[in-house]
Amino acid sequence: MSLNVALLGFGTVGRAVARIIVERSLPFRLTHVYNRDVTRKVVDWLPPGTVWTERLDDVLAAPLDIVVETMGGLEPAGTAVRHALDAGTPVVTANKQLIAQQGTDLLARAAASGCELAFEASVGGGIPVICGVRDGLAGDRLLSVSGILNGTSNYILTRMASAGASFADALAEAQAQGFAEADPTDDVDGFDARAKLCILARVALAVDLRPDEVECRSIRPLRPIDIVYARRLGSAIRQVAHVERAGDDGVVAWVQAALVPLASPLAQVDGGQNLVLATGASGGRTSFAGFGAGGGPTAVAVVSDLLAIARGHRSRLAPARRPARVMGGAPVPHYLRFVVRDRPGIIADLARVLAQHDINIDAVLQEPGTAKEALPFVVTLEAADGTTVQDALSRISHLDFHVEPPLVLPFLT
Ligand SMILES: NC(=O)c1ccc[n+]([C@@H]2O[C@H](COP(=O)([O-])OP(=O)(O)OC[C@H]3O[C@@H](n4cnc5c(N)ncnc54)[C@H](OP(=O)(O)O)[C@@H]3O)[C@@H](O)[C@H]2O)c1
Repeated sequence: MSLNVALLGFGTVGRAVARIIVERSLPFRLTHVYNRDVTRKVVDWLPPGTVWTERLDDVLAAPLDIVVETMGGLEPAGTAVRHALDAGTPVVTANKQLIAQQGTDLLARAAASGCELAFEASVGGGIPVICGVRDGLAGDRLLSVSGILNGTSNYILTRMASAGASFADALAEAQAQGFAEADPTDDVDGFDARAKLCILARVALAVDLRPDEVECRSIRPLRPIDIVYARRLGSAIRQVAHVERAGDDGVVAWVQAALVPLASPLAQVDGGQNLVLATGASGGRTSFAGFGAGGGPTAVAVVSDLLAIARGHRSRLAPARRPARVMGGAPVPHYLRFVVRDRPGIIADLARVLAQHDINIDAVLQEPGTAKEALPFVVTLEAADGTTVQDALSRISHLDFHVEPPLVLPFLT
């Protein structure tokens, strides 16, 4: 018997979902496809009975077994999902911003109506990380989750490393190849990874973490010279998202570019791939890797959720608690990169401010043959907490020799 499914949003993911359902003759009947200006979207490979519509109210009033939301954005997606759940209709969504920001309310509505809210596609595209963590690792007490959660940023960083490209050129290439949106803000400034991190915090750690509580830094200030210095230091640069338990009721959470050892699994993640590392008290570290985006992989996650609902599977998420504190992390070594108008005494000036903050310099690195009027060099620091390093850096940034703002990156072990 086929289940009646409405598809809200017929873009990259929605279209790929419909393709899989049709090509694999899965037991779902796409009764409605909702999209704005829907006539642009009509295809001839869906059954003739499918209703193509711009009227969301009509779709939600129809007798549906499952609603699939692949529109994105908070509205009207949120209204549609709430309406379906309140009516007891299971929902499958790929919408990370909606789940990250409104997951508590939506899951409560699903529980009150006794229906499923499935969101495997919202993190890691086609990687089954939500069910892997929620069900596969349910026997462990998970302590932390880290990973590369944004394929666009990872593509840019790996192109900067492999082709020596500038950030702007690598971004333009990612956009030309369809890996990056015209407006790359969510990807490169970390907001996309932050939303996914909040979803993982809920699923893995039962923590109700809100996106605006997570410290988030852009990869835009990175320069090709940072890749060169990172390599000299035996590291690669990756946009990493991390959340871990801190004490009984706190968490450490951040999204930022970081230096990771070349031997780390994080450094092995190339192009648009994603990697999630879940660490448990009993089971140690488990990796989930694969394509983190793209119509095909993401649609696989949506269709897998649909099939699970069709089989009567009910996911059980432990109730998430609000963290008492969200912190920036334990002390780690840091990388500071400066671009300066050279003059005598610059290192002495830096060392004085760092010493005033009780921060020890580990090494100073300078590539030979660079112009004196815009000289890049790097200072590595012994372990210090991020807030203290930021305080020192804001003092240092007022010194008179900078050609561009200094950059700070943590080293991860
Ligand atoms: N693409 C991926 O690789 C990927 C991976 C993981 C998760 N996701 C998530 O999946 C969802 C869909 O992403 P996508 O890449 O498929 O986006 P997309 O290609 O832009 O598709 C979204 C579709 O929904 C329609 N739509 C958007 N807002 C609408 C509104 N207010 N009213 C009516 N129709 C609306 C769009 O119409 P127009 O054509 O008029 O814009 C488009 O057809 C998002 O939540 C995204 O975060 C995507």
